[in-house]
Parts: sequence; structure tokens; C-alpha cells
Amino acid sequence: MPSVLSYGGTDYFSQLSTGVPEYYQSASGLRIIEHYGAHVADWLLSGSCPTQAFEHGIGRGDKTLALLQHLQATNASFQYVGIDCSRPALEAFGARVKPNTNGLVRLIHGNANTYIGPKLAEEPGTVILVMLGGELGNEENPAAKLDEYWHMLPPGGKLLVGYHNLDVPADRLLTSYNDPGGVTAMFILNALTVLKDTFGGDIDPSKFGYHVRLEPDGRIVMSARSLIAQRVAVGSTINQTLDLEVDELIRISTSWKWRRDDFRHMATQAGFRQDFCFSDKENLTYLVGLTKSQAA
Ligand SMILES: C[S@@+](CC[C@H](N)C(=O)[O-])C[C@H]1O[C@@H](n2cnc3c(N)ncnc32)[C@H](O)[C@@H]1O
Repeated sequence: MPSVLSYGGTDYFSQLSTGVPEYYQSASGLRIIEHYGAHVADWLLSGSCPTQAFEHGIGRGDKTLALLQHLQATNASFQYVGIDCSRPALEAFGARVKPNTNGLVRLIHGNANTYIGPKLAEEPGTVILVMLGGELGNEENPAAKLDEYWHMLPPGGKLLVGYHNLDVPADRLLTSYNDPGGVTAMFILNALTVLKDTFGGDIDPSKFGYHVRLEPDGRIVMSARSLIAQRVAVGSTINQTLDLEVDELIRISTSWKWRRDDFRHMATQAGFRQDFCFSDKENLTYLVGLTKSQAA
């Protein structure tokens, strides 16, 4: 299901990142920026000075705020545009950011996948693209997304990406997507409500449970599991009928994990040079800086 459906309209992700200790990814990513923020800001502003930065999925923006402190300290003049499909998350971030950033930041409610490309075509310049919290991993095909971003960026354009380490022990990895308090389950199953509200149909979320698994290729796959045999209509506009067996799964969200070398290989294949890869002390997540350097 597209991420705008699973995330849009809710702020479950903020609950996950602040109130669920098992979901270690947010705290780890924040620690990296707190530790290396000055270095990252210098890197972002090195070379030809950027005119715009676009963040895909700014969320509640804890990492962004930490990074902005360093960017502001440089007095560089460019605009930082944060895009998110979740209005509650964006509003929460907006309330925190205004007093601190003197107009540097602009917030856009919408789909980053359809917003960023046309904006770059309209206003070319040296550009930074930012995905701080595993958003690339939420893509169905992350290599294709890197390729798309490579084509969007001007030469010398930069991509700052956070991603999650596949080598974290599998039980810890899985528990981070299956917390005992059930926040992840609520978050994922809520996508069925969003689906019904958006497209119509008669899908009943109470007839589904939550299911998560780690695939051999390094994807965490989160699904709705049918609790009964049922026929559901999805959407008056898309008019899809599904006949589901007991335990049959509807895949809602994916979160790819990578080993450090595999990620670098994927980025290099897309035509990026990897300038750094920072991690927290436990190597739970990584933050990499990529520069568009060559023909893909
Ligand atoms: C994993 S969360 C990370 C949030 C934040 N970057 C962080 O690191 O805490 C992904 C964020 O991307 C947003 N998102 C997902 N797909 C999106 C899309 N297509 N366009 C805009 N925002 C999107 C979600 O609403 C959510 O806030």
C-alpha cells in the first residue's frame, strides 16, 4: 500500500518514535545527528552552495531540528522545505520550529513523491534531498528511488539518507515492529481505515490482526492478517473485490534494512559517491551522505 495511505492523516509514527522503547530506530538516528550534526551541515553546504533542501517525510522532525541548529549556525541562505503526508505530524513540527528558524523552513502537507520532482524542474539550483528516518527503506523498490533521485538532482546535488542496519539481531529487529503495547499493530491496521475512508468499500479493520515477518532479502514486511474467511470490497472507485482465506495477508508496509556494504553498492550503482557513513555506537542505524557524481 502506498506510504501516503499508511501514514497519512495519523500521527502514529510520533507515538512509535517517542513512546515505544522497542522502536530503537528513531533514538539511534537522533543520536547520530546530535553527534555528527556539525560535520553533516558542513558537508551539505560544501561545494556549490545549495539553494534549496527538500526533506521527504519530515515527521515530528526531532532529527531535522537537530540538523537545522547546525545549518543555521553557518548563516547560509537557502530554504529548507519539509514535506509530509501526515498533517498532525507536520503541525506538531510547525509549532516547534517557528521560533527557532527565522523563515529558513517551509512546511508542505502533501506527497513528497509528486511534490519534489516538479519543484526541482521549476526552480533549478544546487539542491539537497533529505530522507532522515528510513523513508528510503519504505519504498517498494529503493534502488529505483535512488535512480529517480539521481535523475532529479543537478550535478553536485546531495542526498542525505538514514537507513537501518540489517545485522541487528533478528529478534530485536522484529520486536521493534511488534511492540508489546501494540502501537505498531494499530498503526498498520489503521491503513485499512484510511483505505476505506479514501476509496470507499466495506473493509472492516476489526476482522484483521497484525502480522510481521523478516524476509530473507532484508525486508521487514508488515501486513493485515484476515481473522476469518471473508469477501471484502475495496473502493467504490477502484472497485476491487478480495476473497480472503483465514490468515491470508494484505501487505501494508515494507521497511528495507541493509548491511553497510550493500547499501554503498546500491548507491554507487545509482551513480552516487558515498562521502560518509555515520552510525551510533551500537551500529543500529546509519546516516550516509551521497553526492551525484557520475553517469549512472
Ligand atoms: C519513518 S517516518 C520518519 C519521520 C522523520 N523523518 C523521522 O526521522 O523521525 C516516515 C515519515 O514520512 C512520511 N511519509 C511517508 N510517505 C510519504 C510521502 N509519500 N510523502 C510525504 N511524506 C511521507 C510519514 O508521514 C512519516 O512522517
